[in-house]
Amino acid sequence: MSGKIPRAFIDDLLVRVDIVELIDTHVPLKKTGSNYVARCPFHTEKSPSFSVNRNKQFYYCFGCGAGGNAISFLMEFNHLDFVEAVEDLAAFVGIAVVRELVADQSGVNKQDLQSIYDVLQRAAEYYAEQLHVAVAAKKAVAYLKARGVSGDFAKRFMLGYAGDEWQALEGRFASATLLAAGLVIAKADSKCYDRFRGRLMFPIRDKRGRVVGFGARVLDDSLPKYLNSPETPVFQKGREAYGLYELLANNARPARILVVEGYMDVIALAQAGIDYAVATLGTATSKAHLDLLFRYTSEVVLCFDGDDAGRKAAWRAMDVVFDSLKEGRQVRVMLLPQGVDPDSLVREEGKDRFAERIILAQTLSEYFFEQLSASTSLADIEGRAKLVGTAKPFLIKLPEGIFRDMMFARLKELSGGISQQDLSASAVAAVGYANNPRVAQIALRPQDKGRLSTARTVIALLLQNPRLIECFEQRDVEWDALDFPGMALLRKVVQAILDMPVRNAANTAVIIESFRDSPDYKVVVLLASVQMLTPEEGIEIEFCDGLDGLLKQAHEKRVTQLLEKSAVTELNERERETLKKMNYKQIR
Ligand code: UTP
Ligand code: MN
Repeated sequence: MSGKIPRAFIDDLLVRVDIVELIDTHVPLKKTGSNYVARCPFHTEKSPSFSVNRNKQFYYCFGCGAGGNAISFLMEFNHLDFVEAVEDLAAFVGIAVVRELVADQSGVNKQDLQSIYDVLQRAAEYYAEQLHVAVAAKKAVAYLKARGVSGDFAKRFMLGYAGDEWQALEGRFASATLLAAGLVIAKADSKCYDRFRGRLMFPIRDKRGRVVGFGARVLDDSLPKYLNSPETPVFQKGREAYGLYELLANNARPARILVVEGYMDVIALAQAGIDYAVATLGTATSKAHLDLLFRYTSEVVLCFDGDDAGRKAAWRAMDVVFDSLKEGRQVRVMLLPQGVDPDSLVREEGKDRFAERIILAQTLSEYFFEQLSASTSLADIEGRAKLVGTAKPFLIKLPEGIFRDMMFARLKELSGGISQQDLSASAVAAVGYANNPRVAQIALRPQDKGRLSTARTVIALLLQNPRLIECFEQRDVEWDALDFPGMALLRKVVQAILDMPVRNAANTAVIIESFRDSPDYKVVVLLASVQMLTPEEGIEIEFCDGLDGLLKQAHEKRVTQLLEKSAVTELNERERETLKKMNYKQIR
């Protein structure tokens, strides 16, 4: 695909946009004082704690802690990835996205990609039309009827029919594009033949509704039962979920998404009224799948057939599940009775009974520990040690927080607290708890400004008033010689502002942007949103006083250190130099 979006373009975009205008088109805002407020779109609340600040170009919710700049808002509100959000924001501002020119690794340029999307879309339309008009499609229509698929749902899922011909697509579309789209196969005679023949066609659409590939089923018992599109520049099986687009078209924010195995399962469930199922494409559930689904929901229920293969697949999924769990994400596991799949079961017992099964699906911890206990004997020490040995590699993947603590606690309970190892691991988890982002938010809510340390006050003031960077330029700060809590972060913020190509363009939104991929992002957002009670004319004084206080403290500490050291050993040249300079400064 095309090149990276340059940093300068993104900064420029954030300077041009007015976040109040942008958010107001999504969530109507009311002006109060210098802020604009609304009920938070990211959590349910009765009174507005979502606030947007024009000077900072920044939003923050005092209720749930959501916050960020215009790009973050679009990402969160419209479930976009970073590049999509930048593209939409550029469109909102009315400028074209600039990209760096780089040689494309895949060798496919944007033009080619567009023609692949086009041919896939038109092929899907062609197959859908064939289902209605082709004489030979009668048996496909009959097959759908026999399986209970209504015309409405065939339409919703854009089902089609590929006639039993070798070159139906050839002649309608350009051969090279057909080949790149995976719709034809080149044979030894250098001719191309249609990949899908005499099959019922299931177009696979990405989350934006573009056709990216097909699944294709035979109408009888012949094999292979399903053929799928090969991987192409627009289609990676491990990244797409069948039915996601159709699901989102009905409900942009489903309470949960059910992941099943088959195309027909998704359609049968939707038709039964369970319109929040998607299917993986004949592959195991991947981390990319889970990350994709968690952009739209907070709960994913993995549903597996009750046969041996299904049970094994469920256990295998634990690897990626533990990898992708974090705050606000829940996974449950649902194993169906032997010999049925969602399609047959929902037909047999109806929507309500099936929905009940979803509600009753095991929580991750129930499922995980039940499987572990079933496969090890807990009566003896060896068995319990084995349990700990098997469980730990999964549990240590979990982010620090309450869920991880709970899982370790459960493990300890089951294993009878036999091993010191798990004890120490959960002790680590307990300490890590203090670093849990959600906990940090509670401990440092914006209204708790009084509790901010001097360093945090200084960082917050600087983030909110980047012009204060001048105070640093008037002081000759020797970062390498100094040390105080919070210094590392202050230094990074200072550096971020100094690195801005256009200094006076540095608003809060732009600075925050430069931290997006940093581990400090959360705390930076938080400090940017702390409400400072200092009146406008006092800001500079408060900042300078705070900064000088920090520097003085750090100086004194360093001087003491050096003096103490010089009493026992010779200082090196640099240290002598530092001491001289600092003593001089102090005396002065
Ligand atoms: P199933 O065999 O469970 O299919 O395979 P199904 O959806 O229940 O099929 P019906 O009900 O007989 O129509 C589950 C999924 O595995 C992939 C497909 O994605 C299918 O939906 N699969 C299966 C293949 O890719 N190729 C095959 O030959 C079979
Ligand atoms: Mn089936």
